[in-house]
Amino acid sequence: MPRLIANAETRSASLEETIDELHRIGFDPQHEGSVDHAARALQRLANDREFLGDLLLDMLAGRAASPQSGYGPQAIVLSPPRGEWFLRANIWPSERDTCLKSSGAAHFVYGAPHDHNFDFLTVGYFGPGYVSDYYEYDYERVTGWRGEAAGLRFVERSALSEGKTLLYRAHRDVHSQLPPETMSVSLNILRIDPAQAWCDQYGFDLEHGIVSHVLNPTSSETFLRCAVGLGGEGPRDLADHFGRHHPSDRMRLASFEARAMLADAGEADALWRTAEKSGNRLVAGEAKFRRAEIETALP
Ligand SMILES: [Fe+2]
Repeated sequence: MPRLIANAETRSASLEETIDELHRIGFDPQHEGSVDHAARALQRLANDREFLGDLLLDMLAGRAASPQSGYGPQAIVLSPPRGEWFLRANIWPSERDTCLKSSGAAHFVYGAPHDHNFDFLTVGYFGPGYVSDYYEYDYERVTGWRGEAAGLRFVERSALSEGKTLLYRAHRDVHSQLPPETMSVSLNILRIDPAQAWCDQYGFDLEHGIVSHVLNPTSSETFLRCAVGLGGEGPRDLADHFGRHHPSDRMRLASFEARAMLADAGEADALWRTAEKSGNRLVAGEAKFRRAEIETALP
């Protein structure tokens, strides 16, 4: 369960004041004092009941740019991601809202259990708040292959009501979200760590208590697949080398995937058999899965 942070803040602060304050104090989730200071700054912003409506109005009127977040239209970036944090507002539609009816719950990550590969502070800003089924797990005990038992421990179901402030801990807190009763908004301070792309963020299958997939493939994995797919000995040799020696498990796995994509069923099975014996737990676990898939697909 994310850590509940008491909220006794009665003062309010504008978005500009909050950004200035956060630039001054920073947000380091590893330090208790920093978490407290940042949480108070976020609570003061949440006490400004007009800033977000004004900002949305300015965007609609063309007086303010609509920042592209990369998280879809549900997320509004409130500060440029400079340094080690950025501010974001998230809109959580209810089941009665047209956008949810037309786009579907999955579009808004409802019913998609996941952890996070970053720490973040959040506060309920408006409405009854999205509901979460909260779980915890031990990241260090999970390798990350599909079907691996995740050791999830259920904690509770609760809503992010107005003013409620939580610290979501990277690689520890898992939640499966449900729509709020009526449209709601949360505000976040997200910690940015240059190394976080190399640390997995997982999706989970709650029914079976397993890892279902990795949510944050890196661009390096994609580049490797493209390079191998475009052909030539050089990329294949590089993939072979990465498959044996790359310090990232995910890059090792990507090197096998890239070569398997070009292979027929027999060659792919032989490649994944090699992967099973590679001595790497992630690659070996995933290889078992892939070989079973190939066997199932055989006539
Ligand atoms: Fe989440």
